[in-house]
Amino acid sequence: MKAPKYKWQPTTAEIAAAAGISPEDVERFDHNTSPFATEWATAVAETALHRVNEYPGANYRSLREAAAELSGLEPEQIVPGAGADELILLGARAFLNRGDTAVATTPTYPLYEIATLQVGAVFQPVPASPPSFDFPADDVIRAARDADLVWICAPSNPIGNAVADEAVDAVIAATDGLVVIDAAYAEFADTDWSSRVGRNHNVIVLRTLSKAFGIAGARVGYAMAHPDLVAAIDGIRPPGSISSVSVELGLAALAQPDRMTGTVRSVVELRDELAAGLAALGFRTLPSLTNFVLCEVGGHAHRLSEQLMGEGLVVRKFPADGPLADYLRFTVRSRKAQTRLLTTLERYLP
Ligand SMILES: Cc1ncc(COP(=O)(O)O)c(C=O)c1O
Repeated sequence: MKAPKYKWQPTTAEIAAAAGISPEDVERFDHNTSPFATEWATAVAETALHRVNEYPGANYRSLREAAAELSGLEPEQIVPGAGADELILLGARAFLNRGDTAVATTPTYPLYEIATLQVGAVFQPVPASPPSFDFPADDVIRAARDADLVWICAPSNPIGNAVADEAVDAVIAATDGLVVIDAAYAEFADTDWSSRVGRNHNVIVLRTLSKAFGIAGARVGYAMAHPDLVAAIDGIRPPGSISSVSVELGLAALAQPDRMTGTVRSVVELRDELAAGLAALGFRTLPSLTNFVLCEVGGHAHRLSEQLMGEGLVVRKFPADGPLADYLRFTVRSRKAQTRLLTTLERYLP
């Protein structure tokens, strides 16, 4: 079977050209990135650029130490990657063999299935049910018993809901396979799965600096796991996938956890405003512990997303044959951008 390929979104330049507007007027509500610009990064990047003739130090020791300090772990329990995405792909390569089974609730982050199928393993979906799409703990535990790997997205993308600690612990206890907890949005939910790493040999927790830390363009993430699992990923990772400039940006971001928590507070405030605005338009919004809001819009969801795209407002739609066909997902943006979204939406409502 040929592995599925990632479906790339149109670029901001392409959307601007199609809408006949300037790229600065395109607002991306589809990427779950931070709405805040990163002026602080300019000086950091400029200094790093003076030595860009050299490769980054191949073992990324400084990043391991910084991430370990923040998580209360040892550097030997950390492996950095070019975003959580690279670590998802490396995790599948390191721990799944052809014919193995990997389980995940659906709908979920699409890369788990792609990474699983790319290494010739079988992806076993465990559907979460509407209208809440709560984590189907009993079904996951049942599937986990025979699985080689379980992907858990906590809090979940694209739903935005939490996965209860007890449910995660029960899955870990039920399986002899590996449990990968993708905690890309953990900071917004004030959760931290790092304690699961010290206690278990079969757990990998993924973190990213793309969301709460706000440097998606730098491509920095890290995995936390038992040193044996870290060594397995280290053994197959590309030697220099995080650029030396990104290493410095990552270190500067990790050195300022207070800036991150301040950002999270602002994002949560804006998220609640966005959810209230969407609800006022008559959409059912799902409770979110992340930096985005999932909404049940109705049968015109796809048409609405095209109309918004024509105005330079890019939102996330979902496959027409899937459980979220009638839903749209909106990332938190600036107050001004959110107001523009809500007034434009109002104009297009039937
Ligand atoms: C659940 C989840 N995991 C991983 C990622 C990718 O993170 P990174 O930018 O660190 O590759 C995303 C980005 O949207 C995500 O939603």
